[in-house]
Amino acid sequence: MTATREVLVDLGSRAYPIRIGRGLLVDPGWTGAIGSRPRLLLADATVDRLHGEPVRAALGLSEGSVFAIEPGEASKSADTAARAWAWIAERRLPRDGVIVALGGGVVGDLAGFVAATWMRGIDFVQLPTTLLAMVDSSVGGKTAINLPAGKNLVGAFHQPLAVVADLATLDTLPQRELAAGLAETLKYGAIVDPAFFAWVEDRAAALVARDDEALAGAIRASCAHKAAIVARDERETGDRALLNFGHTFGHAIEAAGGFRDLLHGEAVAIGMVLAARLSARLGLAPEADAARLETALERLGLPTRVPATMSAEDLLERMRLDKKGLSGRLRLVLWRGIGRAEIATDVPEAAIRDVLSA
Ligand SMILES: NC(=O)c1ccc[n+]([C@@H]2O[C@H](COP(=O)([O-])OP(=O)(O)OC[C@H]3O[C@@H](n4cnc5c(N)ncnc54)[C@H](O)[C@@H]3O)[C@@H](O)[C@H]2O)c1
Repeated sequence: MTATREVLVDLGSRAYPIRIGRGLLVDPGWTGAIGSRPRLLLADATVDRLHGEPVRAALGLSEGSVFAIEPGEASKSADTAARAWAWIAERRLPRDGVIVALGGGVVGDLAGFVAATWMRGIDFVQLPTTLLAMVDSSVGGKTAINLPAGKNLVGAFHQPLAVVADLATLDTLPQRELAAGLAETLKYGAIVDPAFFAWVEDRAAALVARDDEALAGAIRASCAHKAAIVARDERETGDRALLNFGHTFGHAIEAAGGFRDLLHGEAVAIGMVLAARLSARLGLAPEADAARLETALERLGLPTRVPATMSAEDLLERMRLDKKGLSGRLRLVLWRGIGRAEIATDVPEAAIRDVLSA
């Protein structure tokens, strides 16, 4: 039996714990932070079917207290948020009420945004059920919905009251979704922690095979890294931006695939390889480190090459449009090698084009 791990996100009076372990949701002890306060559950419909029962029981919820959200990115919309607000209004959730989010990053971001805005902000608890949500989106307080004009354009910083990551929920997660979470896990090693990078490399097979000890260790370390970065720079005015390593390339690839062909984590995997190759081309990082990153991602079951159907010029144009680009000059997270990422504000487009077409 894997021991339960705990990581604290140290934000002073808004500090909160992340608990990681198997079977946590079956034990009603996880509801301690909520106590007897009024509560409502916002859940991914698939996850609710698979794992909702113990959560509903622990929260003492009736059928009418659960808002089931259609799975998929399309649900992270103003329309779903408006329907959730109306549903919450009917139930008269008071100022001291708590929203519980059960699902992946889509539900976490949406429910977090609804909690951030309902009565100008009420408490919420994250119960992440994808690896990506456990290692990344449930931690750090970024909440958002998408607009037709772009992803995550409307949102708020709103930290949860607690995060509970139950490894048992991952048993039903499709393999591609698991691998997508592993990309974000390896990212922490790639940007700030060479020892953790090597740790993930050594356990790649165990992680892909869903070994509990390996997964719990990887989630704990990832959360500890994210917690430390968020505690230093909650609103991304400084080095929280390092977490975007591979993401400007990744967003362009995701968008070029119509948000259907590749999962976010898969696009980020390709994006990290491109960022590493670009850094090597600019003489910042050793070629050997870029090759090592690519091999590690392949061993985690991730794609590492730009799909042949995508053109370099189209991807470059999408990168220019990405909100991380500043006034025509591309702002990217570049790399000095494994464990050493940095922000670059004036990256020559010719070098980016070369890497995209290589
Ligand atoms: N807030 C942040 O800091 C942050 C960081 C990274 C990503 N995100 C956001 O996260 C979202 C992506 O999150 P995601 O990758 O978790 O995707 P997701 O929430 O869409 O979940 C992926 C799929 O897995 C299914 N699923 C979830 N848990 C399952 C389980 N345990 N068993 C079986 N199926 C399960 C869902 O129904 C869905 O079909 C994006 O909207 C992205 O913008 C936010």
